[in-house]
Amino acid sequence: MTRDKRKPTIEDVLELSGIELLHPGGFDITRRIGEIVEMKGKKVLDVSCGRGILPAYYAKNFGARIVGVDLSPEMIRSSVARAKREGVESQTEFKVANSLDLPFEDCSFDLAVNECAVGLTPDPQKCLDEMARVTKPGGYVVIHESTWLKEMGQPEKADIARRLGTVPYTLAEWKGMMASAGLTDLWAEDWSAPENAAKIRPDRKVKNANDLFSLWEMLSSILPRLIFKYGITSIGHIYESMGKVYPLYLNGTLGYFLLRGQKP
Ligand SMILES: C[S@@+](CC[C@H](N)C(=O)[O-])C[C@H]1O[C@@H](n2cnc3c(N)ncnc32)[C@H](O)[C@@H]1O
Repeated sequence: MTRDKRKPTIEDVLELSGIELLHPGGFDITRRIGEIVEMKGKKVLDVSCGRGILPAYYAKNFGARIVGVDLSPEMIRSSVARAKREGVESQTEFKVANSLDLPFEDCSFDLAVNECAVGLTPDPQKCLDEMARVTKPGGYVVIHESTWLKEMGQPEKADIARRLGTVPYTLAEWKGMMASAGLTDLWAEDWSAPENAAKIRPDRKVKNANDLFSLWEMLSSILPRLIFKYGITSIGHIYESMGKVYPLYLNGTLGYFLLRGQKP
């Protein structure tokens, strides 16, 4: 995906807003992952762990031992601070690392999870290959990602991907990439219902895109940060992007899937 660095993506705005959970489905999809992989007591790699809210959740609710990696040093600092705050330091470890070149030996983890950060890399197949490589035989690789439910022309798809900051694929394409990574027994669950998108803010009632942030959050932090980083015109660009992308989730063009594969 080529992008214009002066135009923030929706992903950029979510990250600079400082909200802690950065994926549709909120804690519900995270809990579901813990259940479908029988995570209790396992050694887990959380690839692109963001602000560390998920490793803390897995450690507390499933007694898992988690290594979280993220490309952003700022995200890793947040993750370490959160683990301390939540009293799960002894179960967690964090590292700055690129999901396209994971700094671990083959077969190091019982399972590898990536919540909403495969499609945003320049090479999703390589990311899945790396996750499969570091997983032990018999272990699972789990992802959840934006997924095309209806066909659209290639230029329109590319425009939406640029605005979102991640590239959606069809379910068949996601499964194809997991199979190419050597994973078998592929399983998928549909999380496309629009109310799942709202769960990205478990702390707020979100009925539509305008409810995602409060007026106070917009005025006190998001708009100043956007203008500082991308300039005043970025605000119009983001409103235009929300206006183009959000309806696609409501009209069933764009969805969201949880996928699991097993390393033979
Ligand atoms: C949508 S957020 C998801 C964060 C977290 N998994 C969550 O669901 O809250 C995407 C995350 O991927 C990270 N990221 C982007 N490219 C990456 C890469 N190549 N390797 C590792 N992390 C990456 C970003 O820094 C960001 O924290």
